[in-house]
Amino acid sequence: MGSCLSVEEDEHSQSRKKLSSNRTDTPRDSTHGKEGSVNSNTVVIIPKNVKDLRKGPGNGDLDIFTYEEMKLATKHFRPDQVLGEGGFGIVYKGVLDDNMRPGYKTTQVAIKELDPEGLQGDREWLAEVNYLGQLRHPNLVKLIGYCCEGDHRLLVYEYMASGSLEKHLFLRVRAALTWQKRLTIALDAAKGLAFLHGVEKPIIYRDFKTSNILLDVDFNAKLSDFGLARVGPTGDQTHVSTRVMGTYGYAAPEYVMTGHLTARSDVYGFGVVLLEMLIGRRAMDKSRPSREHNLVEWARPLLNHSKKLVRILDPRIEGQYSGRILMKVANLAYQCLSQNPKGRPVMSQVIEILEPLVAQETDREDLVPQNGGGSVTLYEVRKTPKEQSPLKSESEREAQGPAKNGRSKSEPPKECDRYDQSPDDLLLERSTSDGH
Ligand SMILES: Nc1ncnc2c1ncn2[C@@H]1O[C@H](COP(=O)(O)OP(=O)(O)OP(=O)(O)O)[C@@H](O)[C@H]1O
Ligand SMILES: [Mg+2]
Repeated sequence: MGSCLSVEEDEHSQSRKKLSSNRTDTPRDSTHGKEGSVNSNTVVIIPKNVKDLRKGPGNGDLDIFTYEEMKLATKHFRPDQVLGEGGFGIVYKGVLDDNMRPGYKTTQVAIKELDPEGLQGDREWLAEVNYLGQLRHPNLVKLIGYCCEGDHRLLVYEYMASGSLEKHLFLRVRAALTWQKRLTIALDAAKGLAFLHGVEKPIIYRDFKTSNILLDVDFNAKLSDFGLARVGPTGDQTHVSTRVMGTYGYAAPEYVMTGHLTARSDVYGFGVVLLEMLIGRRAMDKSRPSREHNLVEWARPLLNHSKKLVRILDPRIEGQYSGRILMKVANLAYQCLSQNPKGRPVMSQVIEILEPLVAQETDREDLVPQNGGGSVTLYEVRKTPKEQSPLKSESEREAQGPAKNGRSKSEPPKECDRYDQSPDDLLLERSTSDGH
């Protein structure tokens, strides 16, 4: 969980009105990828408020539950059923079955109950029902249904047995995520974002962070939490103007400065998560020395320098990676974190880069003899006192190559200088509340 920001900006209120009326324009099924789909071939009218939702609750194939059914599913919201808690409210583990509703197929679920006193309200709850209810993709958490009875607002999701990426990266001491798993998770999450950006009216997710990337029993990663999702720019529009919302450390600097939202804001968030997976540190960590508080500011300049990078890399992945692939991933993170949005790749390009790297790391892992089924550790290069870096090999020369021909920085310095204030400073300055 991270601290959220929400900055109301008067000059954007007009555009904001426009944006909320745009929200009736839900993407319809189009050529957006083999794997994903929206549920209907017709334009689905998104209810603007709960009253409208109740009048026409035909939202995709979502099940509508009574509060009594939710109680049965969660054993009366028993504390030992709690999976976690976020800005929206408490998340319970539950089971939908014949006992809850005659004939219902037994299904494990996660049930999120909106806290009426919490940071989010009907608007975010509806956004989740609308977006997740209509979009289906293997890398988006499936919304099974909802309950909207009286003041109760609940969301029922497929159960993600392995919990959040945040838990595995930062909260678990043992059984750290292997390098190979990290890469696969990054690719899965990239596919989820690329799908959202690729629909006819692109959707910007706006809250890409480790606690919103959930893992199923096989560690397939899926995006959850669509409360902040918005329809992005279409046609001639270059951006949509909106309230600045998101989470400290993840929001793109230009978005925080201007309120101008584009799909490239999500790409920045993706870069932050990729960096967190590489370094094994949180995007914001006030327990570190002050120059290391903001992970991007501290670590990004080191990403294209193999020796410096291995010194700050997550020690839990030491020896598991190919130096060549590591540097390619690090360079991808570097580009996604460009201060200039146009210097960032689009998500389909991110997939093009990541996909072969994941395949190569998987092949490498398969080549190593398995002894006892433990996690595979590959030592590419001997570590002698003189040779601290595991990248002293062909891979390092390749990684360092571009530096010699002046292309190491992956973007012109001028572009980098466009926003020279720290994103974190901006968030702190401009934030008027700590809520969503
Ligand atoms: N579908 C799910 N399956 C399993 N666990 C879930 C599911 N959805 C949420 N959780 C658990 O509940 C926790 C809280 O989730 P929630 O999305 O409410 O908050 P958050 O992501 O931690 O914070 P934020 O409110 O800033 O998004 C998650 O970290 C996760 O461990
Ligand atoms: Mg969340």
